[in-house]
Amino acid sequence: MSIRPILIHPDPRLKKLCQPIESVSTDIGKLAEDMLETMYDAPGVGLAAPQVGVLKRLFVMDCVKEEGESPRPMALINPEIIATSDEVNTYEEGCLSIPEHYAEVTRPKRVTLRWLGLDGKTHEEEFDGLWATCAQHELDHLNGKLFIDHLGTIKRSMITRKMQKLKRDKARG
Ligand code: NI
Repeated sequence: MSIRPILIHPDPRLKKLCQPIESVSTDIGKLAEDMLETMYDAPGVGLAAPQVGVLKRLFVMDCVKEEGESPRPMALINPEIIATSDEVNTYEEGCLSIPEHYAEVTRPKRVTLRWLGLDGKTHEEEFDGLWATCAQHELDHLNGKLFIDHLGTIKRSMITRKMQKLKRDKARG
C-alpha cells in the first residue's frame, strides 16, 4: 500500500466525468487500498479516484467517528444512487482537495446506493446521516462536481481564488 498525492482544486482532472470500471482487477484492488490509506492518513472520511488523478468511478469512505468503534473501510465501484429521501440534512462539508475551507451543503438525508464491491459482487445499502452526505459528496466527484459547486457563485469564486493563491505559494516553496 502507498499514500498517493491528492490533487488540489482547481485542477482540470477534478472537473471530468469519470469512466465506469469494467472489471475488478488486481490494479483496482491496489488502487482502492492506496486510496483508503491516503484517506486515513489525510485524515478524511471519503476520497474519490479523481482526487488521486484516476478518472474512474470508484470512491472509498469510512464515516465511523466514535472512539472505540471499529473502522468500516468501504470501497464502492461504479456506485449509483437508486433512491433518496425527501427529508434533507445540512452538514458543514469539507474536501481533501479544498483544504481548510468548509461550507454548509443541504442534501437528501438518506440515500440508497448500489455498487460493485472489491469482492466482485453487487451491493445495495441505505445510508443515513454523515454516511449519506459523504456518499453523495464522493459520488459528485465522479461526475466532476465539487461541494463548492453547490454554493453560490460569489462564495465559490472566493474559495477558488484562495485555492489558486495557495497553489501559487506552494509552487514558489
Ligand atoms: Ni471531496
